[in-house]
Amino acid sequence: MKGWLIVNEFLNWNKFNEIHTWLLDAAKRHGISMELKTNAQVLIVLSEAKALPDLDFILFWDKDVRLAQYLEQSGYRVFNSSEAIRICDDKSLTHLTLMKAGIPMPETIIAPFTYENIGYTNVEFLDEVGSFLGFPMVVKECFGSFGQQVYLVKDMEELRDKVRQIGSKPMLFQKYIYTSFGRDLRLQVVGNEVVASMLRFSNTGDFRANLTIGGKMKPHTPTKRQWELAVESCKILGLDFGGIDLLFDDQDEPIVCEVNSNAHFKNIYDCTGINVADRIMNYLLEWKNSI
Ligand SMILES: Nc1ncnc2c1ncn2[C@@H]1O[C@H](COP(=O)(O)OP(=O)(O)O)[C@@H](O)[C@H]1O
Ligand SMILES: [Mg+2]
Repeated sequence: MKGWLIVNEFLNWNKFNEIHTWLLDAAKRHGISMELKTNAQVLIVLSEAKALPDLDFILFWDKDVRLAQYLEQSGYRVFNSSEAIRICDDKSLTHLTLMKAGIPMPETIIAPFTYENIGYTNVEFLDEVGSFLGFPMVVKECFGSFGQQVYLVKDMEELRDKVRQIGSKPMLFQKYIYTSFGRDLRLQVVGNEVVASMLRFSNTGDFRANLTIGGKMKPHTPTKRQWELAVESCKILGLDFGGIDLLFDDQDEPIVCEVNSNAHFKNIYDCTGINVADRIMNYLLEWKNSI
C-alpha cells in the first residue's frame, strides 16, 4: 500500500515534526510505503494538465482544507476528509454540527460574524450573552489549540475587554462548567474504537487542563457513556480518527468540549504506552482490505 503524509510546510516546530516522524515510522512497521510531502510541495494547480501520482491513500496531517478538498476532487481518499477537518478546526462549526445530533455540550453562543477591517462597532449583543450564560464565562476563539485561545472572564467588564482584545477573529461564548475545573478527559478514537484515554488535571489553579500549559495526566479507562460519546461524535463529524476532549457535568456525566482532527498523540503515549500512530496504520490497512 502506498500513500502520502501531508503536513504543513510552515509549521516547523519540534512538536509537529515529532508526530510526523512517528507516523512515518509506524507506516514502515506496517509495511506501508508512505512519503512525506508538505502543502507547499503539492500545489493546488487547477488545470487538467497537472498529473498526480497513483496512490492508495493520503494521510492529511494538516488544516489546509483547500488542498485536502483538491486532492479529494482529484480522486484520492483523504484521511481525515477535508470536510471533517474543516468542521473540527472551527470550534463553532463543531458545536453546530454536534448540536444538530443532540450531543451534550456546554451551552454556547456563537459571536456574530464581523469583517476583519471593521471589527465590532458595537457590542450590545454582549448583554444578552452575559445574561444567558452568566459569569464566570468561557470565551474561546473559534480557531485555537493547546488551551492558548481559551479564556475565563469573571464579569461584564472583562468580557468586553476580552472581546476587544480578540478583535474581529471568530469567537464563541460558553457556559463555564465549574464541576470540570482544571480537569478533563482526552479520548483518542480510531475508527469505531477509543484506543487510548487519559485524565488531564491541573493543579496550578488554572481552569484549563491542557498539558502545554501545565496540566498533568494519568491513564483512564473510559466508562461506557464516555466511550460512546467519543465514538458517536467522531461519526457525526465524519472523522476516521480524532482526539475528543470531554468535560464533567454536575452529575459527573461527560459532555463534549471539543474535537481535534489532528490530535497530537505523544503525551497519550507517554501516559498510556499506546501508540496511536500504529492504530491509524492498522485502520488504513483494514480500510484497504475492505475495498
Ligand atoms: N466550558 C468550559 N468549562 C470549563 N472548562 C472548560 C470549558 N471549555 C474548555 N475548558 C477547559 O479549557 C481547556 C481548553 O479548551 P478547548 O476547548 O479544549 O480548547 P483547545 O483547543 O485550546 O484545547 C479544556 O481542555 C478544559 O480543561
Ligand atoms: Mg482541547
